[in-house]
Amino acid sequence: MSARWLFDRLSLSAPLARLIGLFGGERFCAHDYWEARHRSHRGKLSAVGHAQLSDSANAAQYETKRDHVTRAIGKHVSEPQGKTLLDAGCGIGLLTSAFVDLGFSVTGADVSRTGIAEAEAREGRVQFVVSSLERLALSQVFDVVVIVDVLLHVVEQDAWVESLGSLSRHVREGGILVVVDSMQRVDDGKPVHCNWRRLDDISETVLGFGLTLIDHVEFELSHEGSRKDIAIFRR
Ligand SMILES: C[S@@+](CC[C@H](N)C(=O)[O-])C[C@H]1O[C@@H](n2cnc3c(N)ncnc32)[C@H](O)[C@@H]1O
Repeated sequence: MSARWLFDRLSLSAPLARLIGLFGGERFCAHDYWEARHRSHRGKLSAVGHAQLSDSANAAQYETKRDHVTRAIGKHVSEPQGKTLLDAGCGIGLLTSAFVDLGFSVTGADVSRTGIAEAEAREGRVQFVVSSLERLALSQVFDVVVIVDVLLHVVEQDAWVESLGSLSRHVREGGILVVVDSMQRVDDGKPVHCNWRRLDDISETVLGFGLTLIDHVEFELSHEGSRKDIAIFRR
């Protein structure tokens, strides 16, 4: 019996699940966690949204996210028609369709096979790929690479830096990387599957991969009672 199993199936509090896992000498494995989460929440928005919120509350949150993220991208890409976009960590494709609707030619990638199968069933206009961020090696670069609420779940620091490296390498010269994350959370009380970083840390790391911060906006998710950040970097 693993900490992930306890966390997912019995709805134990994250600190308790973490404690049990550590006691058993177990390390949190993000890939296993997300595959299990996609399976146990299959057909529900809580597979990728807030695990404790109803479908209608998650749907409202997604509407807010979609509006802010598409507006932020629109500020920097005036003519999306014919341009390429990678939705990294696309989950079940809830935002992927919005990027297609803007006119982009879209590729979606996620580490979870179950998540990608759901995304394929939902959106037929996108090419989907099963891959972790760390190992992502597509044969093209993109005008826009967008990553929504994924980097905060890359808990291990080495994997997080590697992920930012591979995301950056998929941005074409002059293209943008759009990071949507929680960049202002305090450090205490982090759930086992979260490790949020500040804008400064993200900017400094991404700068090392040749991208510069060009924009930062914030918005509020009222159901969750949290603030989100959108940071945009140009190569
Ligand atoms: C909170 S969900 C967000 C999904 C989607 N971006 C959205 O906004 O609906 C996080 C997603 O990231 C994926 N994920 C987590 N760690 C990953 C990694 N290292 N590489 C690729 N995908 C990952 C999970 O499978 C999950 O689908």
